Amino acid sequence: MLTEHKIILGNSQKMPELADSSVHLIVTSPPYPMIKMWDTPFARMDPKIAELWQELKADCREKTVTRIYESMHKSLAKVWREAYRALIDGGIACINVGDATRTVNGKFRLFPNHSKIIEHCEKIGFTTLPYVLWKKPTTKPKYKGKGAFLGSGFLPPNAYVTLDCEFILIFRKGKLRQFARHDPNRYESAFTKKERDEWFSQIWDITGTRQTENQLERRIAAFPEEIASRLIRMFSVKGDTVLDPFLGSGTTTKTAMQNERNSIGYETDESLLPLIKKKLGPVPTACKLSIMKHEN
Ligand SMILES: C[S@@+](CC[C@H](N)C(=O)[O-])C[C@H]1O[C@@H](n2cnc3c(N)ncnc32)[C@H](O)[C@@H]1O
Repeated sequence: MLTEHKIILGNSQKMPELADSSVHLIVTSPPYPMIKMWDTPFARMDPKIAELWQELKADCREKTVTRIYESMHKSLAKVWREAYRALIDGGIACINVGDATRTVNGKFRLFPNHSKIIEHCEKIGFTTLPYVLWKKPTTKPKYKGKGAFLGSGFLPPNAYVTLDCEFILIFRKGKLRQFARHDPNRYESAFTKKERDEWFSQIWDITGTRQTENQLERRIAAFPEEIASRLIRMFSVKGDTVLDPFLGSGTTTKTAMQNERNSIGYETDESLLPLIKKKLGPVPTACKLSIMKHEN
C-alpha cells in the first residue's frame, strides 16, 4: 500500500494544513508542564508564562505557581482543540504524559498533568476512555528529591512515592467509528489474540523492548517505537492518517510508515530534522515523504 508522510516545521497550536475531519488517529507526547526541561518551549508558546516566572521571583506567591501551571495547560489545550477539529467522528487521540513533582517557591508539590489534560479535553468535547499506565523501567525511588533512598530513607514518614509510571490517555471524538461491512483495510489490520490480551490490559511493562536511544533522543524524551506502533495498530486501520502534533524525533512517522498508515507530524524545533531523518533511515519505496515549513 502506498502511503504519504508529511513533516511540518511549525507550531501545532494552529494546524491550517489540516482539513476538518481528515485525521483518523492522534499519537503524541507533548512537553510535560512543570518539568524543568520543557520550561523554555512553554515560554515560547506563551510569552505570558515567561513573565509569570519573573513575577514569581518578585512575589513568591503560591498563586503564581498555580497560574504558571494552568497557563502551560492552556497552551497545550490550543493543540488539543485543533486536534479535535482535525479528527474524524469516531477518531481516537492517544496522549502520553507524565505527572511532575517539583520544588517551586520552596515548596515540594505534585503537578498531576494527566488529570489537567483530561479536564481540558473533556471541555473540548472528547470522551475519556480507560487509559494505559506505562511502567517506565529506569526511575529509582526518591528521597528528598535525591535519586535513591539513602540512610533515613528507611525511616517513615518523609519519603515519597516514585512516579515510575506515565499515562497514555485515550480519548474519542463522537460516537464509535463506523465501517462498511467487511471493510478490507479493517480486516487486514487485525491483531492476534496474544497481542489483544497484552495491548488492551492497563499496565504496559515494555522493558524488554526498550530502544537504544542516543543522548538527543533522551533530551527530547522520545517514546519507544513499541508504544507508537501498538497504539497505531490498536486504534487505526491500514490506509488511515495518523497525526503527531509534537513529533520530536519522528517516532510516530517511522511507525506509521512501518504499519502502512499515512502520517502528519508537526515540530517547532528545526534542529531536530537531522535526528528525524536518521531515525527514518532510507524511506521505503511505498512511502512518500515531504518536509515543509508552516508560518504562523
Ligand atoms: C516530548 S517531545 C516528543 C517526543 C516524541 N514522541 C518522540 O518520540 O521523539 C515534545 C516535542 O514537541 C515539540 N514542541 C513543543 N511545542 C511545540 C509546538 N507548539 N508545536 C509543535 N511542536 C512542539 C518539542 O520541540 C519536542 O520535540
